[in-house]
Amino acid sequence: MTDQTSNAMWGGRFAAGPDAVMEAINASVSFDRRLAAQDIAGSRAHAAMLAATGILSHSDAEAIREGLLTVLSEIEGGRFEFSPALEDIHMNVEARLKEIVGEAAGRLHTARSRNDQVATDFRLWVRDQIDAADAGLAALQRALLAQAEAGADWVMPGFTHLQTAQPVTWGHHMLAYVEMFGRDRGRLADARRRLNECPLGAAALAGTGFPIDREMTARELGFDRPMANSLDAVSDRDFALEFLSAASICAMHLSRLSEELVIWASAQFRFVRLSDRFSTGSSIMPQKRNPDAAELIRAKIGRILGATVALFTVMKGLPLAYSKDMQEDKEQVFDAADSLMLSLAAMEGMVRDMDANRTALEAAAGHGFSTATDLADWLVRELGLPFREAHHVTGRLVAAAEARGCDLPDLSLAEMQAAHPGITEAVFEVLGVHNSVASRKSYGGTAPDRVREQVAAWKERLG
Ligand code: ARG
Repeated sequence: MTDQTSNAMWGGRFAAGPDAVMEAINASVSFDRRLAAQDIAGSRAHAAMLAATGILSHSDAEAIREGLLTVLSEIEGGRFEFSPALEDIHMNVEARLKEIVGEAAGRLHTARSRNDQVATDFRLWVRDQIDAADAGLAALQRALLAQAEAGADWVMPGFTHLQTAQPVTWGHHMLAYVEMFGRDRGRLADARRRLNECPLGAAALAGTGFPIDREMTARELGFDRPMANSLDAVSDRDFALEFLSAASICAMHLSRLSEELVIWASAQFRFVRLSDRFSTGSSIMPQKRNPDAAELIRAKIGRILGATVALFTVMKGLPLAYSKDMQEDKEQVFDAADSLMLSLAAMEGMVRDMDANRTALEAAAGHGFSTATDLADWLVRELGLPFREAHHVTGRLVAAAEARGCDLPDLSLAEMQAAHPGITEAVFEVLGVHNSVASRKSYGGTAPDRVREQVAAWKERLG
């Protein structure tokens, strides 16, 4: 770019072209080329509408629509030369269209602006990502569901404060994440519903004097309706923020599951074995099987939430309508979307492939006095003790077991009766982990019967 050449698209009033630094800070085509398919779809719909309303001749519109397909195939085939001097994807496409179809290309930009154009392209792009994320989440839910079904009655320790709390079932633990990812899908679906209105035709900010048909372009692009306010249409990015917010919550869920996998795959826990396909080795320590994918997913929330904060910060305080600040929306969303999709795919693979170690889970379930609450409940139920007193009696028994280095079921009846004379042999029944989980039949509880009901319900929902 020499200083003498002004911009081919808007350079009419300029005598000199931009400084190299100006061009560098202004150009977005290095990243917004990812909107090419959406940009061309939007332009094709716009051209069709211009012809249908008599604003453009049918022959020009046809030439434009055909030419745009040629441009698309050049871009998809890697044969397109992007020029930073033409700033962004919109002007790169239009300039190439002019080379292909000549003068008619100059009529495409009638009754629109890059402001409504980019808002439309970006909505279409985010909508595609929402659909992809939904599919990724559904696949992950299916993988978790398969785990839940296989291990509906496998017992494992449930934790609070990462200290053994009460026994739970493996299926129940898996289903907890199925629920979380179900809500993530709900948030994305909500965002999609609000996003799905078409900005095209808002033009620069005020609408246009041409007799356009905004219903038609909205319909052609799969939107539910045109956006009702032209200022709003070109200037808000709340749809991107909603996507990022939902993605951040989802990334937080993925991060928690990742953390559990990292812990569970350790030699100290051995709750799961990750497949070779989803483990890595160490270049120095031959024994290592590292859960790198889980660690990376655990970390991705940093980028995704970071993108969310970045875009909120870009948008805050911007007066209506469009400001160039808003060009800073795209890289954040692109990176967050890429990170989310990759995380979902990797998590799905890990969960699908992983082997839960039923024996290790069950052994751990009985450690750490995990049935102490069952014992206290028994004292309430069978001996009529107030819960607070039952809690104390149980506490004394835990201390006794700890002193002997054994678990609660290993205490003798005499030792039990030393803590409370009313205790009978029947108490031992509630100290087993299987009885413990089977007893937690309340709706939403960990009992295998409840887990199987939830598995069946989810199978039906996921189809
Ligand atoms: N590349 C711009 C963006 O992404 C397109 C809109 C430019 N509009 C303008 N009036 N300069 O925001």
